[in-house]
Amino acid sequence: MQKTIAVLEGDGIGPEIVGEAVKVIKTVENKYGHRFTLHPAAFGAGAYFSEGSAFPEKTKEICDAADVIIKGPVGLAVEQMDQIPQEHRPEIGAILPLRNRYDTFANFRPVRLPASLAAFSPLKPEIISQGLDILMIRELVGGIYFGDKIEGKTTGMKYAKDDCTYTEKQVRRVAIVAFEEARKQHLPLVNIHKANVLATSRFWKEIVEDTAKDYPDVPCKSMLVDNAAYQLVINPCQFNGVVLIENMQGDILTDQAGGIIGSLGLMPSACIGPEKSYVEPAHGSAPDIAGKNIANPYSMIGSAALMFDRCLNLPKEAEEIRNALFAVFERGFSTRDLMLPEQSPEKILSTTQFGDMVVKIIQENV
Ligand code: IPM
Ligand code: MN
Repeated sequence: MQKTIAVLEGDGIGPEIVGEAVKVIKTVENKYGHRFTLHPAAFGAGAYFSEGSAFPEKTKEICDAADVIIKGPVGLAVEQMDQIPQEHRPEIGAILPLRNRYDTFANFRPVRLPASLAAFSPLKPEIISQGLDILMIRELVGGIYFGDKIEGKTTGMKYAKDDCTYTEKQVRRVAIVAFEEARKQHLPLVNIHKANVLATSRFWKEIVEDTAKDYPDVPCKSMLVDNAAYQLVINPCQFNGVVLIENMQGDILTDQAGGIIGSLGLMPSACIGPEKSYVEPAHGSAPDIAGKNIANPYSMIGSAALMFDRCLNLPKEAEEIRNALFAVFERGFSTRDLMLPEQSPEKILSTTQFGDMVVKIIQENV
């Protein structure tokens, strides 16, 4: 396969972890006889300071021309972010415009912790010991994130307002993605909402339940988002399967899921659009540990794996990467964020050591 990949390193730990993902992509390229052309492009807070925009025109051209985009986390330390006007900050000035440009409506966030690695979780062993395998599918281009954001003043009273809108098309298309996934993998589906309070959630639930009629083979239930947050901690394994959730609620619950499996460093993601998709870790740029070669590159390398199966339709390559990632942990190694009390410091890998070990495992595996 011959493809071009836009590479947006981002800020903070971005360049370090993207570097490891690129190593892994090149290893897979050689092993499977593919040809990937990588096009680096500036994106994020660093891009604002060097080019005057967090999502520069040149980067848009590179992304437009690429088959797929791999993106690191963005954002710098508070003092630097404070120097950037609100509308140019990477969240509003780069990430949302990227999602909007390619209409990447379906955000796949797998929450995976094999039983053998249950000790990474802060939850008691009896709660998590069977392992977790949840595919959270978060709607990514609708709802409150993309509504009008207003700060105003009436009769001397200051106020702020965020509009939250969902159209039928927006809900139905992501619901179809989730149900198709559940059907293909013979998994149950849990639909999350806040229909006891919000009109958009009542609407969401109504459209999802209507979509469910086309999938009588998929066991489906609904759960209020606050209850889901509680249940995720008390009995997370009940969610093994597909979880469908809207944008804002999904942002929160997927971070909670990262905590439950032990680290946000274990949360890769893929943002799928009708024509173009991109992959990114679900976590931030951790400026406090940037440049120290200690960040966990798992979620970034895992995002590269998602690029292979979710974006390029190369499932074997994706599986090979995922197996290698878990093999590192199963050999007793981990990164600083996952350090267990009884773990010896020699088993703690740097960012580059982790990437090198993944590469070696892939190369050795025949
Ligand atoms: C995420 C992030 C983003 C979001 C931010 C950085 C805009 O938290 O991808 O989860 O809220 O979607
Ligand atoms: Mn988030």
